[in-house]
Amino acid sequence: MDQENTQAAVKPEKKPIIFSGIQPSGTLTLGNYIGALRNWVTLQDQYDCIYCIVDEHAITVRQNPAELRRRCLELAAIYIASGIDPARSLIYCQSHVSAHAELAWILNCFTYMGELSRMTQFKAKSAAHADNINAGLFTYPVLMAADILLYQTNLVPVGVDQKQHLEICRDIAMRFNGVYGDVFTIPEGYIPKTGAKIMSLQEPQKKMSKSDPEETYIAILDEPDAIRRKIKRAVTDSDGEIRFDPENKPGVSNLLSIISALGGGEINAVCAELQGQGYGKLKERATDCVIAALDPLHAEFKRLIADKGYLQGVIDENAEKAAYLANKTLRKVQKKVGFAARGERK
Ligand code: TYM
Repeated sequence: MDQENTQAAVKPEKKPIIFSGIQPSGTLTLGNYIGALRNWVTLQDQYDCIYCIVDEHAITVRQNPAELRRRCLELAAIYIASGIDPARSLIYCQSHVSAHAELAWILNCFTYMGELSRMTQFKAKSAAHADNINAGLFTYPVLMAADILLYQTNLVPVGVDQKQHLEICRDIAMRFNGVYGDVFTIPEGYIPKTGAKIMSLQEPQKKMSKSDPEETYIAILDEPDAIRRKIKRAVTDSDGEIRFDPENKPGVSNLLSIISALGGGEINAVCAELQGQGYGKLKERATDCVIAALDPLHAEFKRLIADKGYLQGVIDENAEKAAYLANKTLRKVQKKVGFAARGERK
């Protein structure tokens, strides 16, 4: 091998960038795990991954401060327990990198009221929190766009409920680039084929959500007994046929998606295998898959959460690395829009 080839072999290849985040605003659900976390883990090999704890998004709805603080550290532990390796991927809190809020301000000036008022999540959240329809709730997608664009992100792995937010992020980036040149990479969404929208166990026409009553969702940290009980009580239908048909059989289809997403086989194969065995067997299979997926995570979570010093160290160190990357884009943007140059003096 000549000198040049040797150097090429040694030089670490630059991988495409992934950014995603979860709000530390409540108990994480199986929906968060299947729609997001599980994919984040597998994407670590091919991408440089940045996984944020989006605490600034969380305060668009009132939070108890002590609980929010606890949940941020818990979420770091959940990320790591799920298999995200903090030595390879960045895990940090959004509020620790001020560039997020700074870029969001600038992007607010490139976002129209009309496009924000079309966001279905804004409409749903303002209906659910009618006493607190704050401006943060309204500009929430702009902060999300800032999160993504700061890191020149190529791919954003999310569940299907975030699709509209991703589209507005792309629109804002293209609008900005249209004025100032190629400042931002235009990100693509990565929405899983199976499990992009896990449904409520009690109202399977609705997304499984941490803000709904306990019996409607499986929490990532639920013990096996609770998982068994909740799936046993999951709403199905009365025709008894195990068939994937989300429109007419949302409950059964949801259980099939859960099984398939958690490695229980292709949906068609599961249907064929369980044919004629009744919903009891379907629920048993779903329970086994969920427990098998979450059990190792539980043990690791318990170990990690007992070591707050380690978790704090991870988020501190990774926030520094994230800030370095984020500030590179922020400085470029500030210059483009015409903010005064910064002197070298301290
Ligand atoms: P959040 O915290 O509501 O949800 C985190 C991730 O979980 C996915 N998800 C689901 N997937 C399948 N089925 C479900 N029932 C389900 N419920 C939630 C969500 O799609 C999401 O991927 N705005 C984001 C957080 C965020 C973000 C970002 C994401 C802030 N900045 C930048 C990506 C990039 C949110 O509220 O997710």
